[in-house]
Amino acid sequence: MLPYPTTLNLRVPEALDLLLSRRSGSAKAMTGPGPTPDQLARILAAAVRVPDHGKLAPWRFILIEGDGRDRLGEVLVEVLPPDASPDRIEQERNRFLRAPVVVAVVSRAREGLPIPVWEQQLSAGAVCQTALIAAHAMGFVANWLTEWGAYHPVVMERLGLTVGERIAGFIYFGQSTIVLEDRPRPDVESITTRF
Ligand SMILES: Cc1cc2nc3c(=O)[nH]c(=O)nc-3n(C[C@H](O)[C@H](O)[C@H](O)COP(=O)(O)O)c2cc1C
Repeated sequence: MLPYPTTLNLRVPEALDLLLSRRSGSAKAMTGPGPTPDQLARILAAAVRVPDHGKLAPWRFILIEGDGRDRLGEVLVEVLPPDASPDRIEQERNRFLRAPVVVAVVSRAREGLPIPVWEQQLSAGAVCQTALIAAHAMGFVANWLTEWGAYHPVVMERLGLTVGERIAGFIYFGQSTIVLEDRPRPDVESITTRF
């Protein structure tokens, strides 16, 4: 028996309104409360229901909560250039403290399989986006960021990434301290051609 039904009687307008109203809430303007462990489990359960060619599950999660946010901030501080200003040091120390809950989505695409690495990486992107949508559905704001830390080898190593693993994103979850405004969205017609 599947834990969730595969068809729902959601009203189409409600489902579409959810998608059409999603926007990011800036990590800079976040506060608590974040998702509880149960709520986060639901968000991540939704996130792993993504298309996954070959059923490889080429992604995993690292939860950065509580003092884990401080410890990761200290890693950022550690790898700053020696001439970093006190303001910069403070900014990096507090980077992961901007939200109550941060999830690193790790892409673990493998070479040498029949499924191209590109497709495995796309699936990791889908995990990130689905987490954003699930958070929105539950009344949280979320922000998908990489920033420099996602690409720094020491930060990656301290997070426990192994060869071939990459950070698809740090997803910040919380409540917005400001009223969210939308940004102009791409004009679909202008990016669409007909074959
Ligand atoms: C892979 C990826 C990495 C991103 N990294 C950053 C980042 O480091 N800093 C940033 O300001 N926005 C980053 N963004 C953009 C934000 O997630 C977000 O799309 C943007 O703030 C616009 O908000 P929207 O989701 O409402 O369109 C990234 C987006 C993606 C897809």
